Amino acid sequence: MTSVLVAEPQEEKYGSSRPGRNKNLEVCEANWMRIGIFSDIHGNLEALSAVMAAFETEKIDTFLCCGDVVGYGASPNECVDLVRSVTEEVVLGNHDAAVAGLMDYSYYYDAARKVLDLHAEMLTVDNMAWLKALPYNRRYPDSGIKLCHGSPVNEKEFEYIFAPEQAYALLPYYEALDQVTFIGHSHLCRVFALTDTTVEEISHKRFVLEQGRKYIISVGSVGQPRDYDNRASYTTYDTETRQFHFKRVEYDIETSASKIFEAQLERNFGNRLFIGV
Ligand SMILES: [Fe+2]
Repeated sequence: MTSVLVAEPQEEKYGSSRPGRNKNLEVCEANWMRIGIFSDIHGNLEALSAVMAAFETEKIDTFLCCGDVVGYGASPNECVDLVRSVTEEVVLGNHDAAVAGLMDYSYYYDAARKVLDLHAEMLTVDNMAWLKALPYNRRYPDSGIKLCHGSPVNEKEFEYIFAPEQAYALLPYYEALDQVTFIGHSHLCRVFALTDTTVEEISHKRFVLEQGRKYIISVGSVGQPRDYDNRASYTTYDTETRQFHFKRVEYDIETSASKIFEAQLERNFGNRLFIGV
């Protein structure tokens, strides 16, 4: 993993909000200012498309994705294509690992196994190779950022962090934590600000990261929110002002659910989208 990823002239940097405009340019990670972070797309193309459209107004310099591009939804290939078109800064989620054959999921319940098997069949050879090559984490030292799917400790275990006691369990590892760790996995929007002895949960949608604390930020889910808000989640972080912002956008749930029903996947994978659980 290199931290030298993207380069673009300064006048371009502030003059365009086109997602993915960093893709084939070379600049230093230190030039990142406006970052768009998203996670847990789960094959929901309609939600991902709505999030990408919303990012158009955000003047994003680079995108980071915390994993689970596939699983649950009806459009895994299209979602991998779209994510790959805007960023290569993606980490492996547990559903990605299962579809890529990197994890035993024989103990999952029938419907969950069925959709993972189906997604493995649906992916193109190239998209499957991409999925298999995703790392468990990515680190950006100049920005103080780490990206992973679940807990930053024992990443291959994909442990959840959505409650204060789970954040407390990270305190023995405080020195090794990055300034900010962006995660997904729980599909919930959560923030924990840590010192070496304390954990504070922050409930604001927009806040400034303080110097001297380390943050675990769970960025919510694009394609399967679970907080009874059925809108897709996406987030922004400004490395200069250190301001972070949780955002939501409505999308075409009807179409997304219809595709799941037509594919004869577990109907609940479609039904739950309407209520956001
Ligand atoms: Fe997920």
